[in-house]
Amino acid sequence: MGSIEGVEQNNGPSPHTLTIRYDAETDRVLIIDQTRLPHEYIEVELKTLADACYAISSMQVRGAPLIGVTAAFGVYLSLRGKNDIAAQRIVPQAVEALAATRPTAVNLRWALTEVEASLARCEGNLAASALEAALELHAQDIKACAQLGEHGAQRLQELWDAKNERAALEGLPKPERLNILTHCNAGSLATVDWGTALAVIYKAQARGIPLHVWVDETRPRNQGASLTCWELGQRGVAHTLIVDNAGGHLMQHGYVDCCVVGSDRTTLLGDVCNKIGTYLKALAASDNGIPFYVALPVSSIDFSLRDGLTEIPIEEREAEEVSHISGLDDLGAIRRVKLAPTGTVVSNFGFDVTPARLVSGLITERGVIEANETALIKLRDSLV
Ligand code: MRU
Repeated sequence: MGSIEGVEQNNGPSPHTLTIRYDAETDRVLIIDQTRLPHEYIEVELKTLADACYAISSMQVRGAPLIGVTAAFGVYLSLRGKNDIAAQRIVPQAVEALAATRPTAVNLRWALTEVEASLARCEGNLAASALEAALELHAQDIKACAQLGEHGAQRLQELWDAKNERAALEGLPKPERLNILTHCNAGSLATVDWGTALAVIYKAQARGIPLHVWVDETRPRNQGASLTCWELGQRGVAHTLIVDNAGGHLMQHGYVDCCVVGSDRTTLLGDVCNKIGTYLKALAASDNGIPFYVALPVSSIDFSLRDGLTEIPIEEREAEEVSHISGLDDLGAIRRVKLAPTGTVVSNFGFDVTPARLVSGLITERGVIEANETALIKLRDSLV
């Protein structure tokens, strides 16, 4: 894994609570309940397989890498306290239940396959082996996100240097900041720690690059407004919340230097599936000559698929996510209100696919690569 010259590497956990953690002393798996953020910060214990399935499907935990790691702990919870004969019978059922929780993020299937492979190699206790595998994926995710953050920060450094050079050449004042637009939440809350798109931002901030982030609210669940704004605020990153439709206007008027988003599944051809609305941002970026980067761990790449448009299963969620909205009222109570007339027909696709041609680069823990088949095959072959 190449380190960046002159940059201090810190690939361990950031100084913030992890989204999922295992307390070895009490044998407890704890998550931050993201359905309560930003209004309440609550840790919840996952005690059973059903708890893990519910946490993923109800989006107490969400974000592709975090879904995968939670599923791995879900297998452990299904085996805890069981003897190996019972465990042999339970594993396929647990894997099937966890795999059915959400369809789009490939990390879920990837993590389950990794755990199953560890169990197949195991000669001792299966529950202990499942826990070991989950802890290994947990640690790997932190490391990968920290590393991809460093690689992405180097790209932002180059963009910042170029912005300064351009201003100097044109006799303009020194720019105040580098403006980055992001969509949804691809932050520490979407992973075990650091995040993907936001890891790039945290690592760039640590280098001293003055940053400002445009945060798409990300209807219908508003992960941008509720989660990205919350975590950027926690970490002192300047940011502004915008409605999802504002990005194109901001790009046309020179307010955006670069877009950085995450991915739930990226194919061998470099097509990027991410939260619904990502594609429109990529189109606007392309039309305005603005770099559009996707930050993702290798675990979010599905090397078995080629065409993102036809081959990736796109999650469709319940109508009420669109027809209703919830938030804190002026008296401090969380309320849900209806936006649309009763009976309105609703469509709620959770994700869309940005074709590879609109992607400036894939920022991975292995470095920044082009979003094309040649680069992805090279990456795949370097993994074995
Ligand atoms: O529906 P969500 O909140 O799970 O969607 C999350 C995203 O779309 C993220 O951008 C993606 O998982 C990448 S996270 C590092």
